[in-house]
This record gives sequence, structure tokens and C-alpha cells, in this order.
Amino acid sequence: MIFLKFNFKKNNTGRRGMEVESRERMKKIHAKPINIWEDFFKDKTHGGHRYSTEEFLAMEAREKLFHLDGGKTLLDFGCGSAELLTYYAPEYEKLVGVDFSPSMLREADKRIKEKQCNNIDLILANHETIWDNLQFTFDRITAAGVIQYLTFQEIDAFIANASKYLNTDGKIVFFDILDPRLYPLWKLGLFAPKAGVLKALYRIWCDFRYSVSATLKNRPRNIYGFSHNPYKLQRIANKHGFEMRYVQSMYYEYKYHAIMSRI
Ligand SMILES: C[S@@+](CC[C@H](N)C(=O)[O-])C[C@H]1O[C@@H](n2cnc3c(N)ncnc32)[C@H](O)[C@@H]1O
Repeated sequence: MIFLKFNFKKNNTGRRGMEVESRERMKKIHAKPINIWEDFFKDKTHGGHRYSTEEFLAMEAREKLFHLDGGKTLLDFGCGSAELLTYYAPEYEKLVGVDFSPSMLREADKRIKEKQCNNIDLILANHETIWDNLQFTFDRITAAGVIQYLTFQEIDAFIANASKYLNTDGKIVFFDILDPRLYPLWKLGLFAPKAGVLKALYRIWCDFRYSVSATLKNRPRNIYGFSHNPYKLQRIANKHGFEMRYVQSMYYEYKYHAIMSRI
């Protein structure tokens, strides 16, 4: 499996700089993405939050820190450009951000330097290659807005692997999972300020057009990915020795968070 690790080296000014281990391997990973999502995200630079203001990101991070509920070490899988990770940083001793998108990690590195978060390392890897690159275990393993890009089978394998890298009292927390019961309503615009039948029909028509065009181009229909039923996720968590609570997302009507602790 191809993966890239971002090395951190002290530069002349003493600040940590990021170097790509091998440009040739990067070309390779771009030339042959392992799945459509890797291809989709390879040149993206932001996580697609509802608002991209620092004020909103700070509020989102506060909600997430509440559910993360402590710990000293944190792994943020699918950290993107570290829009949340940099807000987690003051609350943890050591953090690792993982993402399969080189462009996201470049943005993350810039942001980490700007915010002077010296306790974050970044790794370029996906849900399969991540595990061989971890040097220690974590109190919290989290992912925000990422699980929607994994199938149930991949989530199952992720939780199995994560449990090996999770400290005894640790938690796995998946944020902002698409709820299949609410997501279709959101797509119809029912949570929008001016919802209506005509608007809903128009949205269905647009969605249909995008779907056909995306299918013809062999590209994802939109950034949203798959929705996952919380009870099915709960069964997977239980199978791996975790109990799972699920709570409604505070800022996204059609998403929920899954909080898993060892039984
Ligand atoms: C919607 S963005 C969210 C980013 C970040 N968690 C945040 O909340 O700002 C999803 C991120 O997950 C990453 N991602 C999706 N699937 C992944 C996978 N299988 N392995 C690693 N990263 C993945 C994407 O590259 C992207 O940066």
C-alpha cells in the first residue's frame, strides 16, 4: 500500500518545517488513487464546514472537545487542514493528524505554524496505512466529517485497528456522521429557512442531474459520501468490545456523533 509520511525537521529559524519524504511517491499516489475519495480530496484545502469563519470553527471545536471529554493524547483521523485540530491542541499534550490528501496536509502544516501548535505531528496515510505509522497509543481517537467516506466494512476494520492503539480508558469518537433518516430531508431543503414543495422538487431535479453527470464521469455525486445508520454502527462497536452512545450534532441537523468507550 502506498503511503507518504510527512517528516518534521527543524529549519534555520528553529520552527518545525514539513518535508515530503519522496516526491516520486507523491506522483505515484496521485497517478493511481486507491479510491474515488482520495482522488476527490487530493487538491482540496478545506473541510467544508458550514461557515469557514474562525468564530464558527472555534464553536464547533468547543462542542467536540466537550464530547472528547479529556485525555492527554489524541489522534485526529482525516484531520484535513487542521481547522479543528488546532483548536484541540491547547487541551492535549500530544496530537497526531492523519489525512490522505497532500493538499490538505500542506494547509494543515501552514495553519499549525501560524497558530504555533508545537505539539502536533502530521502523517499522510489512509484508513489502512495509518496503523503502521503510529509510534504510540492514544487516549482519544477521533474523526470529524470523515466516516461518511468509509463503508461499514471499512469502519469495522478501522474500529478493530483503533482498539489496538487506544489506551485502556480511551475513547473513539466519530463526529458528524450522516444520519440516513435525516439526511434525505436536509437534501430536500426541509431545514432551510424558506422550505417548500417547489424548492424540494427543484432540489430533486438538480440532484438527479448531478448524479447522472457524476456517474458518467465516474466521480462522486457530491462531497457528502455515505450515510450510516447509528444502530448498525452500534452493533459494530459492540462487536469490538465498545459501548456506543450517539448524540445529535449541535451545528448540523442531519448529522450525529458516535462516542465509543470500552465495555
Ligand atoms: C470533510 S473533510 C473534514 C476535515 C476535518 N476533519 C475537519 O473537520 O475540518 C474530510 C477529510 O477526511 C479526509 N479523508 C477522507 N477519507 C479518508 C481516508 N480513508 N483516509 C484518510 N483521510 C481521509 C479527506 O482528505 C478530508 O481532508
